[in-house]
Amino acid sequence: MSAAPQPGGPAARRGRFVTFEGVDGAGKSTQIAATAQQLRRLGIEPLVTREPGATPLGEALRAMMLTQSMEPLTETLLMFAARLEHVRHVIEPALAGSRWVLSDRFTDASYAYQGAGRGVDAQRIAALERWIHPQLRPDLTIVVDVDAETAAQRRRKVRDADRFEAEPAEFFERVRAAYLARAEAESHRFLVVDGRREPQEVLADIMERLRPWLS
Ligand code: TYD
Repeated sequence: MSAAPQPGGPAARRGRFVTFEGVDGAGKSTQIAATAQQLRRLGIEPLVTREPGATPLGEALRAMMLTQSMEPLTETLLMFAARLEHVRHVIEPALAGSRWVLSDRFTDASYAYQGAGRGVDAQRIAALERWIHPQLRPDLTIVVDVDAETAAQRRRKVRDADRFEAEPAEFFERVRAAYLARAEAESHRFLVVDGRREPQEVLADIMERLRPWLS
């Protein structure tokens, strides 16, 4: 497919904020890269980013969080500290410039991992969300859904476990259930795709959902 001009008025050209979620090993990183490639073919150059990370400070915090043990609430606060830098210095400027932003995880991950996974009270996470980014919500959140066992098998094939990935299957069951519950509660903002299928099939579902924003 060649790069197509963007028809439509300013609304059609505005950037969208799309986040990708799922348990570790679900295949969301593959889907972000493939989605970005499809958008480029359509003449859209998305900003691809990730959490925790994305800024020099965010990446330093990521390295700490992936390796050092800490209180669940400390972990939550550091996630939101990294997120504040990410929102102010990366996401908001890109959206203000009408760019598409594809983020490998965002605040739904805090509800799923720190909330359901580690037992931090969801009200505290909601308070941080209101404090750190009161206005910003993803236009769409894609949950690449696989069961905890399949995800663990995939992870074992490709890498050594980091501090999160070393958690037992029950942890990832809780994380997965939290994502699915959030998707059900806010169905207009979420797309849940069955990540056990071939990557091409998963990508087709994602592009189908983005289609109204692309013409
Ligand atoms: P991720 O980049 O998806 O892992 P990888 O690149 O190793 O596949 O995310 C790193 C870890 O951070 C992941 O295990 C989930 C965790 N995380 C949280 O616990 N809470 C959050 O709010 C975010 C953004 C990530």
